[in-house]
Amino acid sequence: MGRPRVLSGVQPTGALHLGNWLGAIRNWVDLQNDHDTFFCVVDLHAVTVPHDPQRLAHDTLTTAALYLACGLDPEKSTVFVQSQVAAHSELCWLLNCITPLNWLERMIQFKEKALKQGDNVSVGLLDYPVLMAADILLYDADLVPVGEDQKQHLELARDIAQQRINARFGSEETPVLKVPKPMILKEGARVMSLTDGRSKMSKSDPNEGSRITLLDPPELITKKIKKAKTDPERGLEFGNPDRPETDNLLGLYALLSGKGREAAAQECADMGWGQFKPLLAEATVAALEPIQQRYKAFMDDRSQLEAVLRNGRERASAVAEANVQRVRRSMGFLSPS
Ligand code: AMP
Ligand code: TRP
Repeated sequence: MGRPRVLSGVQPTGALHLGNWLGAIRNWVDLQNDHDTFFCVVDLHAVTVPHDPQRLAHDTLTTAALYLACGLDPEKSTVFVQSQVAAHSELCWLLNCITPLNWLERMIQFKEKALKQGDNVSVGLLDYPVLMAADILLYDADLVPVGEDQKQHLELARDIAQQRINARFGSEETPVLKVPKPMILKEGARVMSLTDGRSKMSKSDPNEGSRITLLDPPELITKKIKKAKTDPERGLEFGNPDRPETDNLLGLYALLSGKGREAAAQECADMGWGQFKPLLAEATVAALEPIQQRYKAFMDDRSQLEAVLRNGRERASAVAEANVQRVRRSMGFLSPS
């Protein structure tokens, strides 16, 4: 038995924010040392809602640069672009044909996103979770580190693998696909919006003040935190359901300062907002500074970044091709002679 395989990805839609980092990417970095790790930029997912063709390639590259800047090490992890490995689209089609439509219609994220698209909902948006299942199943991933919001999609990937592929086309002794498990860390799994403690920090919120992106300059970070929604009470605490903003900001401070929840709660128990906010701003700026420096270095020398993605593509393709072939065979397709 080798090391457990891990796969995850983020869409290249706009700048990554603290939720993406604390909820997902930060965990990836820790996993590199004792897992066999694959991380992709899921650009095929990014076109499930209307997109700007002038930006897609650039956003894909900058997202990859941010992965590396956050600490993904190409010596340890396979870092690649989803659309550059054709097997993702192919397995998605094969899975489409065995996935019941009503499994997709009940996906919470689909319903939320479809609502925002009005009458311009693409088939791709409905199909989004099947493509995600293909991403995961193509690599025989054991574990998928994601934020809380992706749990339902992970369940779907498991159901497709187990009930639709293995049960129909495999046997107990020789399953066709590995059934993956979600990996959701509690702390940071749900970073909330700065302007509404009851909705999650999101790339698609039209209000930029609702999120801090990993590339925001220090003045902007300070400004956004200064404007962040609070409540009239003094003193910060965790777990008060009437104070979601307080819970979120204190949680961010605990993570970004590296102090942990207990010490942060103790330190801020009697603080007013005027004292706390500059403290949080300072911790955020300090946590993001090294990421921003490394990001700039990667963008200044594209050749290194491009080499990482070329190499990642080759390694990913080798695994993905073999696996899609196994699924094809199990479903009874004629093999090329
Ligand atoms: P997305 O920005 O939707 O492409 O999400 C990419 C990854 O970041 C996924 O693993 C999400 O679960 C995670 N993520 C996105 N927003 C948040 C958030 N506000 N809090 C925690 N994790 C998040
Ligand atoms: N749907 C995921 C998100 O929004 C992104 C994603 C696509 C993904 N394919 C994946 C995450 C495979 C983990 C594994 O966050």
